[in-house]
Amino acid sequence: MAGPVSRRATAGSQSVRGSRIIIAILIGILLGCVFAVLYPHGIFSASNSESHFQSRRLSKSNQQIGSTSCESTEKVNMLRSDIADLSNTNDELKKQVRDLTEKLQAAEQKNGQAEHQVVVFGEPQKAGPFGTVKGLRTNPAVLPDESVNPRLAKILEKIAVQKEVIVALANSNVKAMLEVSVSSIKKAGIPNYLVLALDDGIVDYCKENDVAYYMRDPDEGIDSVAKNGGNHAVSGLKFRILREFLQLGYSVLLSDVDIVYLQNPFDHIYRDSDVESMSDGHDNMTAYGYNDVFDEPGMGWARYAHTMRIWVYNSGFFYLRPTVPAIELLDRVADRLSHPPPAWDQAVFNEELFFPSHPGYIGLHASKRTMDRYLFMNSKALFKEVRKDDKLKKLKPVIVHVNYHPDKLPRMKAVVEFYYNGKQDALEPFPDGSG
Ligand SMILES: *[C@@H]1O[C@H](CO)[C@@H](O)[C@H](O)[C@H]1NC(C)=O
Repeated sequence: MAGPVSRRATAGSQSVRGSRIIIAILIGILLGCVFAVLYPHGIFSASNSESHFQSRRLSKSNQQIGSTSCESTEKVNMLRSDIADLSNTNDELKKQVRDLTEKLQAAEQKNGQAEHQVVVFGEPQKAGPFGTVKGLRTNPAVLPDESVNPRLAKILEKIAVQKEVIVALANSNVKAMLEVSVSSIKKAGIPNYLVLALDDGIVDYCKENDVAYYMRDPDEGIDSVAKNGGNHAVSGLKFRILREFLQLGYSVLLSDVDIVYLQNPFDHIYRDSDVESMSDGHDNMTAYGYNDVFDEPGMGWARYAHTMRIWVYNSGFFYLRPTVPAIELLDRVADRLSHPPPAWDQAVFNEELFFPSHPGYIGLHASKRTMDRYLFMNSKALFKEVRKDDKLKKLKPVIVHVNYHPDKLPRMKAVVEFYYNGKQDALEPFPDGSG
């Protein structure tokens, strides 16, 4: 796009014959610069320079083409001052976000409810051009509050890597699986793994095997569930305990014990969402979402109703950033699990995460991401699909979660044999399902 300035300059540079002409040209260019600064929109529309200034800010990158050197110098200066403006605004915004987060935390601690908070970040903005606007999905982290649990804070300081940690809850009922899981953690070279021990048997196991652990004090109000509960009973508890990790400012990768680690999961986390979770889906559609068409022939012309479907997120392996929406999710799930009617924690976890606000209900506003289903693989994918496909067999997952099968221990051991020890037929003896 050639403006009045560049037209003048190119007209002047037509003939280069002798020094007088060159001097004349130089003077012309100089004058051009002066006019460009004084009347950026051209002499005849100078009165309109206010609105022009705004449109030029929006489209300055488009105007680069065809400009002369003096115009681009002027533009560089303008860009510089724009950048200075922007970074000032940025600092201001950051400060506002910090202030708001602080206020929010204070309010939360005071009356224990963040539900009716309305948080508005910064000044209103104009929307950018088509295709360039992106909604906020990466929420700011909360201010770490060590007073929530100083003892846990000390442990995390030691074992977390870049404020991230894997947490696995275990009581003695699941010790055999924990052993397989822990040995795979060690083989994969993952240092930031913490066992949340629910009884003394697990504490002893951790001490003997040099595994980092944390056990709550009996007077810290832990449910009796922790001591002798099975898999499902322990599940409700974990949402309460995880809250403290987030309040301390750590990102948590919650891990069940029926999981074999083959690579370090933190090399494969995106960190752009409040919740990042593995899926119970068995193909791209079921894992990542699809349009499921419901057919009611009696309706004739309107027989097809479109529905949104996605297989549930697995509440045995998910990553949470330390954000307000992630903490709210934990609170909502823990609260619902502590009241009748009894519910399966995984169903509650998904309902809270996905159901929108509607009359009488305020939905959670958390950003979410489904993990890659071949890297974070469930046992249905492995036994129904992957083990029968020569190409997929060669892929190395990050984890395999034996969530779809009740004979967890032998299948976990087979996964170790197959992926770590190269035993090609290790997965063969098992049926696709539980038979
Ligand atoms: C499934 O999704 C992955 C990741 O988005 C993609 O690379 C792959 O091509 C998809 N496979 C099929 C069969 O659509």
